[in-house]
Amino acid sequence: MLDPQQRQTYLAAMGIAEWVPRNAPALTPADALPPSPAAALDWAALAAAVATCERCELHRGRTQTVFGVGHRAPQWLVVGEAPGREEDHLGEPFVGRAGQLLNAMLAALGLSRDEVFIANILKCRPPSNRDPQVAEITACAGWLARQIELLAPQIILCVGRIAAQSLLGTPSSLAKLRGQPHAYGPNHIPVVVTYHPAYLLRSPLEKRQAWQDLLLARRVLAGEQ
Ligand code: URA
Repeated sequence: MLDPQQRQTYLAAMGIAEWVPRNAPALTPADALPPSPAAALDWAALAAAVATCERCELHRGRTQTVFGVGHRAPQWLVVGEAPGREEDHLGEPFVGRAGQLLNAMLAALGLSRDEVFIANILKCRPPSNRDPQVAEITACAGWLARQIELLAPQIILCVGRIAAQSLLGTPSSLAKLRGQPHAYGPNHIPVVVTYHPAYLLRSPLEKRQAWQDLLLARRVLAGEQ
């Protein structure tokens, strides 16, 4: 669960201004992290900055950063959690078993990997695939925020609880976040939340629900929802 300070830190790092009641107690930043340098960067400069990023401790254990892959002006942006072992080795998101299922989910929508963009909340692999920590998410958030500005997708599909909570700046459960569209950023890009493909590999019965999420996303994109 995010406490109010964590929530504000996430939102600020993602470039989202949050409405705060006038009499709310002032919150201090979680740590002395310098502001993200991502804001003014073009795509090439952003990729270069991510490749040498040392904003959190995860840089020490990585083989390489995993920037993201796909179409540079996509309708669909898929946001996952963080690179795993194979992604860390190959420098590309979702290339392992979960990635194969993600490809199949996209194919079911008539989409290939090349026509969407795929990125993660974190650009570096957490050790032993543990959950990302708040400080890591906060340190990394500006990179994805700038990617989203430059990509300007028409819909964002968040796969998994951590991707959804981090992108939307909310502690709500996956169960609460699924089933209705959300909005991201000043342009209110629609966001639909579904299960992480790694979870679906462990719980194949939930694939039916995931398909409903994908259909919701397709309706939202078509302006029908
Ligand atoms: N899981 C993710 O969330 N992202 C990847 O890139 C791979 C597995």
